[in-house]
Amino acid sequence: MRRKLILGIESSCDDTSAAVICDGVLMSNVIASQSVHEQYGGVVPELASRAHQQNIIPVVDQAIKQAGIEKSELSAIAFTRGPGLLGSLLVGTSFAKGLSQSLNIPLVEVNHLQAHVQAHFIRQGNDEEKHPSFPFLCLLVSGGNSQIILVRSHSDMEVIGQTIDDAAGEAFDKCAKVMGLPYPGGPHIDRLAKKGNPKAFKFSKPHIAGYNYSFSGLKTSFLYLLRDEMKINPDFVKDNLNDLCASLQETIVDILMKKLKMAARDLKINQVAVAGGVSANSSLRKAFAEHGKKYGWEIFIPPVSFTTDNAAMIAISGYFKYLKHEFCDLKEVPYARVSNTL
Ligand code: KG4
Repeated sequence: MRRKLILGIESSCDDTSAAVICDGVLMSNVIASQSVHEQYGGVVPELASRAHQQNIIPVVDQAIKQAGIEKSELSAIAFTRGPGLLGSLLVGTSFAKGLSQSLNIPLVEVNHLQAHVQAHFIRQGNDEEKHPSFPFLCLLVSGGNSQIILVRSHSDMEVIGQTIDDAAGEAFDKCAKVMGLPYPGGPHIDRLAKKGNPKAFKFSKPHIAGYNYSFSGLKTSFLYLLRDEMKINPDFVKDNLNDLCASLQETIVDILMKKLKMAARDLKINQVAVAGGVSANSSLRKAFAEHGKKYGWEIFIPPVSFTTDNAAMIAISGYFKYLKHEFCDLKEVPYARVSNTL
């Protein structure tokens, strides 16, 4: 039987990525990250789309070469249709459309958020791999999203809780910025927190109904602490950097885990996964392991390389859709936002 070879293309934000999946097993996953945004303290959409345009051909070319295949062998092309930055999405979408037409193979559209969840089904040809079974809960935490998703199948995912303001990653990045740390601040906070005392400072925690999150109050409380303390000691941040990072990180992780615990208890679900850029956080990973032991959860934590934006998750999502012949029309255009049902 002919191999099912799916090329995945991701360009929703500031990473240009291409990957090849063969019968559900990952063959290559190439990512070109854009350092151009560092100096601005955040992603500049216009610069992101320009960089995607420069990167997309070499990245796709490398992914195909690393997979050891010819592009004529591809069965379909999966691409991120949204949500994300429109200019960036347009680059990947247009490229995917052009390539699918020239190779005369189907095009498969992928929702970027669903793809983060599907990252749990990427196989790397290793017998030890375990994947969640349905239904399971997935905490999706990234720079733009903080959601609790009830995953009933590869295509049926319901957002049962989400942030009403900032995302968890945004809280990390914005607080890092006021401490003078480079962008994105999450990994820097994670690194510095390892040397700090998580109980050194107390920050306000939100009181929001249901499974929703809020991080803007925490950000303000962090900012006010710095403002007040720096009036007394201008070197306050420098003198307390590790403790500030550890305390902030612990507060964010506590907020995330509290709602997830509620959802798992109410829905009686004991398969719990985490996805998205913030799931690289060491303290969040530790909290998952502890909750797993304490509440009998079977936990699923992706390898760090599948937590940030990558095309492997787009290719695996495309693979499942390809098996069901869910193809996309050439007239479909990218979208910036999504509704509650993923
Ligand atoms: O999913 P992702 O790669 O893409 C966007 O949503 O853009 O997530 C990026 C986010 C950033 O906010 C970054 O600071 C955060 O993930 N992040 C982390 C860590 N690694 C990445 N946050 C906390 N600890 C980390 N180790």
